[in-house]
Amino acid sequence: MFREFSNRQGEESQSGDVITLVPDIQDGAQKKILNAMSMDVDESDRLELKSRMHNRLLDALNLTVLDKIEEDSLRSEIGKLLTSFLREEGRAMRSETLKTLVEELMHEVLGLGPLEPLLADPTVSDILVNGHNQVYVERGGMLEKVETRFRDERHLLRIIDKIVSRVGRRIDESQPWVDARLEDGSRVNALIRPCSVDGPALSIRKFAKIPLTMDLLIGRGALNQSAASLLKGLVDAKMNILISGGTGSGKTTMLNALSSYISSRERIVTIEDAAELQLQQEHVVRMETRPANPNGAGAVHQRDLVRNALRMRPDRIVVGEVRGSEAFDMLQAMNTGHDGSMTTVHANSARDALSRIEQMVQMGGLDLPHSAIRATIASAIHFVVQLTRMSDGSRRVISISEITGMEGGVVTMQDIFIYKRRGKDENGRVLGEFTPTGIRPKASEALAAAGIDMSMIQFTRGPK
Ligand SMILES: Nc1ncnc2c1ncn2[C@@H]1O[C@H](COP(=O)(O)OP(=O)(O)OP(=O)(O)O)[C@@H](O)[C@H]1O
Ligand SMILES: [Mg+2]
Repeated sequence: MFREFSNRQGEESQSGDVITLVPDIQDGAQKKILNAMSMDVDESDRLELKSRMHNRLLDALNLTVLDKIEEDSLRSEIGKLLTSFLREEGRAMRSETLKTLVEELMHEVLGLGPLEPLLADPTVSDILVNGHNQVYVERGGMLEKVETRFRDERHLLRIIDKIVSRVGRRIDESQPWVDARLEDGSRVNALIRPCSVDGPALSIRKFAKIPLTMDLLIGRGALNQSAASLLKGLVDAKMNILISGGTGSGKTTMLNALSSYISSRERIVTIEDAAELQLQQEHVVRMETRPANPNGAGAVHQRDLVRNALRMRPDRIVVGEVRGSEAFDMLQAMNTGHDGSMTTVHANSARDALSRIEQMVQMGGLDLPHSAIRATIASAIHFVVQLTRMSDGSRRVISISEITGMEGGVVTMQDIFIYKRRGKDENGRVLGEFTPTGIRPKASEALAAAGIDMSMIQFTRGPK
């Protein structure tokens, strides 16, 4: 084994006894020896030791063959090398500590170092690194600080570089931010000096291995069954839907859940900056934008892809999030026979969502009068689903509103469903309920005509 992946083959004979001393983790006798050594590594010493051991390991291991080695063999090899290094330095370590160090070094060599345990933890949904010695995670909707640390700024930069170079991008002073994706689909943004003032910042939105379906969302109190039936009806009847919400309010999750209602007979084209949607249908064409190359050329924007999508005979177009001039093309698509299209927008209320779209269209430089833009919006978008991340970390649909037309140059809309907050319980959890406003949507007839079972949806107040 040693011969296979060590660079230090010349030293191998010298280290013959080292191999016998190795605390091979399975070897009980060796474990006993190490347990007997009471001297252990002080926690404050650990990072420094790990760093030194890591550097020595990198020198000793033949990195070119690392990919081909079984994980268990590598683990045992790292254990061996580590014991020999420790012996050379005259240090001893408890086998438990050594085992932890071996795992950490495995993560350093094969993965993303200190981030690995957080990436493997299914309860963590976001990982936020603010410089090398401050890491927060989001669990159950709430942010909490964790003990994870990087050795120093260089260590964090090395991990960032590993993430970025794996997807063929780069980050440096001239391009100090980058969007990337981990192998498992998690979304990553990295920002380094000079734009990140206190050292590299890394934000990871972990890919939901088990996507939240509408039933799971109902189970988590994001909406109730009746609201979900209304949403299903809207998708079945090919209404154009805008999902609106603040950052991390669950827009992408809701878009994904809603898309699952699209019939598998339809051809769906999705357009995203970083493919996060996980549509289960078979007939899906997924598109992703591309940043410019280091020479500033080759960028592909959402607008280009929306335009291209129109030439691909889509039944429905799903855009991950509209942020710029593609808003106009999206509205055009919605208005020209691609009914049942959906997108999300970053806004704090349904009304605000419409103004954001209006601003985006203006940004496109088309020089259209306000009234023309608003009329396009009013006829293109049929419903707005507003989401909020509440103070207790929960995400909820707080309104489902119908766009009803234009009056005096203003887009008119009415709420069909709202979430009424009643207060908080003793644990700070938000209390409230979903209630129909009592207004029957103008689109009811269209829904009924599309064969939607309206009896499943409660429009009147009070118990059904
Ligand atoms: N109803 C919910 N209950 C619990 N967790 C949820 C709910 N909706 C979304 N989440 C989780 O919240 C996180 C953010 O969700 P999502 O990515 O959908 O938000 P977003 O609004 O699209 O965020 P961004 O603005 O960053 O694009 C994810 O980890 C997701 O799994
Ligand atoms: Mg999103």
